[in-house]
Amino acid sequence: MITDTILRDAHQSLAATRMRFDEMEPVLAQLDEIGYYSLEAWGGATFDTCLRYLCEDPWDRLRNLKKYLKKTPIQMLLRGQNLLGYRHYADDVVEKFVEKAIENGVGVIRVFDALNDVRNLETSVKAIKKYGKGKCICEAAISYTTSPVHTTEYFVKLAKTLEDMGADNICIKDMANLLLPFTAYEVVKELKEELRPETKVHLHTHNTTGTGDMINLMAIQAGADIVDCALSPLGNGTSNPATEPLVATLKGTPYDTGIDINKLLPVITHFNKVAQRLEKDGFLSARVRKIDINTLLYQVPGGMLSNLISQLKSAGKEDKLMECLAEVPEVRKDCGYPPLVTPSSQIVGTQAVWNVLAGKYKTLTAQYKDLILGKYGKVPGQISPDVLKLCTAHGEQAITCRPADLLKDEMQKLTDEVKSAGFYEKEEDVLSYALFPEVSNNYFKWRKARETGVDDDMAKNADGVYPV
Ligand code: CO
Repeated sequence: MITDTILRDAHQSLAATRMRFDEMEPVLAQLDEIGYYSLEAWGGATFDTCLRYLCEDPWDRLRNLKKYLKKTPIQMLLRGQNLLGYRHYADDVVEKFVEKAIENGVGVIRVFDALNDVRNLETSVKAIKKYGKGKCICEAAISYTTSPVHTTEYFVKLAKTLEDMGADNICIKDMANLLLPFTAYEVVKELKEELRPETKVHLHTHNTTGTGDMINLMAIQAGADIVDCALSPLGNGTSNPATEPLVATLKGTPYDTGIDINKLLPVITHFNKVAQRLEKDGFLSARVRKIDINTLLYQVPGGMLSNLISQLKSAGKEDKLMECLAEVPEVRKDCGYPPLVTPSSQIVGTQAVWNVLAGKYKTLTAQYKDLILGKYGKVPGQISPDVLKLCTAHGEQAITCRPADLLKDEMQKLTDEVKSAGFYEKEEDVLSYALFPEVSNNYFKWRKARETGVDDDMAKNADGVYPV
């Protein structure tokens, strides 16, 4: 089965998540008839971009998608206790968010934690099971990475824990395209042997380094039940492997997707026009469509490499790139081999730059300290005792509990804030505000201006135009 990411990851990976709802609407009914396992359409950066740039209420977008997608489940991506934001939220916010996402039409929730700390998934998994009964599939994802502790055995053990917690599906989430085809075969084969027969294995990869189609094909042969693809107008490159070549490859084999490629044609024509618009507006460039082998060479995700380069550039030390690339594995080892995904990729990368420019651990970034002290959760491997000593030199305490255990309920306080600002229209507004306070307030001001017609300037969006 195929999950198509054309409505989320595809334009997030290639075009700064700028596809508008009116660019989806004309083909939603047709997409619903294709026979996909699910359509990924919500979560990730879509929420932020809707509010920040598109003057769309992400909750309205979800309800509008649901009007057309009657058969195909809408899939969303949720970053565990971080939801879609950048900090840990109290349990009552996580529970309310999941409840509202399901109520408004989400049918598959893929939930993951950057460190693979299952404690950061507990509350969201429980909430999905509670509110999703018969309506929403709970898909727990493993952030894929490579390191001495990330063996196939480690992934299988983690998957079984997630299954025991209540996950219906297990996803291997290879956001950086670090996974290689033969490893994919091995990992999926083991998972299929060790997990319950009813548990589906879902593979998510990208085509950044050009291995994506091979990964999918090998995973399918090893028994993967579902893979993620993106329709060709916004497929490949830093996006997911294109849908159509895989559909054609599997046709007539025991793995036939049942998808009729002819039915896809009008949809492809439509999204080609959308891709042209995104290109015209400067959101989509040819560069992100090309194969980039840097991840194969340095084992660091593409985004992390460009961050390293820009940090060195602003310090006028571009010549230190190779030293930094050699320092990254050292810094990562010292903090217990976190997967190199947001936010740990930036944390490790920035500390590596400091080590090279200022001397080894002479300067410790606040985020690196927090990672060492357990504030993001438990790291997969052992933390270097020497680095731990440095990070606790001023009386700082490492925590061993689930980070959210230190947070008090916050829904009431957030609700009061939205109400006292005069922006409250529905419960969902509080959740938007919880995730992106400033961005949401700007959106609420715009909404109010449009409703009352009093402030014409406010009714324009961030680019100074009236949203369609
Ligand atoms: Co992705």
